[in-house]
Amino acid sequence: MKPAHGGVLVLDFGGQYAHLIVRRVRELEVPCQLVPCSIPTSEVRESGAKGLIFSGGPASVYAKGAPKPSPDVLNLGLPILGICYGHQLIAHLFGGAVKPALKSEYGETTLKVRAGSSLFQRVPARSRIWASHGDQVTKMPKGFQVTATSDNSLFAAIEDHRRRVFGIQFHPEVTQTEYGMAILGAFVYDVCGCRKSWRLEDFVSSEIEEIRKTVGADRVLCAVSGGVDSSTLALMISKAVGENLTSLFVDHGLLRKGEGEEVMHTLRDLLGLKVVHVDASKRFLSALKGVREPEKKRLIVGAEFAKVFEEVNAKHGPFQWLAQGTLYPDVIESASTAGPASRIKAHHNVAGLPKGISFKLLEPLRELYKDEVRKIAAQLGMPREFLIRHPFPGPGLAVRIVGEVTPQKLKVCREAGAIFEDELRAAGLYERLWQAFAIVGDDKVVGVTGDQRRDGFLVTLKAVTSEDGMTADWVRLPDELLDAASRKITNKLPEVSMVTYAITNKPPSTIEPQ
Ligand code: XMP
Repeated sequence: MKPAHGGVLVLDFGGQYAHLIVRRVRELEVPCQLVPCSIPTSEVRESGAKGLIFSGGPASVYAKGAPKPSPDVLNLGLPILGICYGHQLIAHLFGGAVKPALKSEYGETTLKVRAGSSLFQRVPARSRIWASHGDQVTKMPKGFQVTATSDNSLFAAIEDHRRRVFGIQFHPEVTQTEYGMAILGAFVYDVCGCRKSWRLEDFVSSEIEEIRKTVGADRVLCAVSGGVDSSTLALMISKAVGENLTSLFVDHGLLRKGEGEEVMHTLRDLLGLKVVHVDASKRFLSALKGVREPEKKRLIVGAEFAKVFEEVNAKHGPFQWLAQGTLYPDVIESASTAGPASRIKAHHNVAGLPKGISFKLLEPLRELYKDEVRKIAAQLGMPREFLIRHPFPGPGLAVRIVGEVTPQKLKVCREAGAIFEDELRAAGLYERLWQAFAIVGDDKVVGVTGDQRRDGFLVTLKAVTSEDGMTADWVRLPDELLDAASRKITNKLPEVSMVTYAITNKPPSTIEPQ
């Protein structure tokens, strides 16, 4: 069954929130898939989708080379909802006008709806919305009418009721828009006539079937990092291909404290997977020697992984497939979806593999979010302690060490992180956080121990909550917990002179410092 059959396709015009639209629609239990904005009309037809959503995007519709849908897509007779750039695009393509706004709208504002729009049936006359745009619609296309205004926009929502084409200037997919889900719900259920037919359980069984078909009698090598994603992936693949799966756990020397042993115990002893364990810490650390630049570090880790894969292939293979637990946010932030989004970081598992690599890539979680993967993991019987572990990036502590990865900084980062995690566990807070860790760089500050001056490392602790890693909030931890963590860190690690706490959200920060 096609992923958007009976549901909607989201055409990706490059907005950072395009993925969130998909997620929200799936929360409404309606099938949904993100596709490149240039998707050919024939594929839209074949998808079995009952409606289209045009996402936001960074371009201006009147700019040269601005992304547009295939022209015939507008003539398929399918309902269309344009969001932000998608809204401007609808105005532009149907013959209205879009211009730079006198005052760009960014952040929260008030939506005032007029009676009669099927999109706003469950939205009160005034409500809070979140908008982010520099352009605005200034003239409506023929056949359209205004259905809502906002503080700064006379055309906050427009629609052609007869053709079932809608444009909204704001973002219904973000939680700051009070009635966002009511608006998306009205579009998918009432306008498009979609039914609740998307369930994660079905996704898992159809995905296992799909893997079985794709892989056939080939052999699969699955790189597991010990995180929930790749372990879930390995479990799923083992259900599909059984003995033809070999999992590979590479210790790159950049793991958290005790991680290697814990991962091997869970995968091998508890889940019964066939796992090859490679201790490659020496070569990773020597490849990283002298390297300070964050993106370079990521690419080196990615390239080194690829070399290990090739070697394991020569020794235990041949494997025709390499499976990776790439998730949707990894794809988005590395800008490797077909949309025109800008690149934030090269997540090594999507960007670091050299071109000539001899495996075919299997990435069945590519469309999913972390919380969806956790649900799947629970369904497949993953032990609870494993499930609640915080996500850990592929390049490991290399991205929590600012500047060069040295043995001394590695020890500080690992030990301080473990102490912090222990304090959080003891306080019953660990599970409520998305991630918590320690960061160390090259800055030294003056300390004093026993009347002696000692220049020591500056360690920053960071704890965030997040829904899917795309945005994150710093956590107001109790003073006593921070105090205990700081004391224990400086006691255990005399080379540390100061402990600080990170209090910046994402955005503008990213979660990992590098
Ligand atoms: P950032 O730092 O980009 O991270 O805000 C968002 C989430 O992604 C994780 N992350 C990675 N995961 N490979 C991974 O598998 C990577 O290269 C990578 N970089 C960041 C990060 O830990 C956070 O949860």
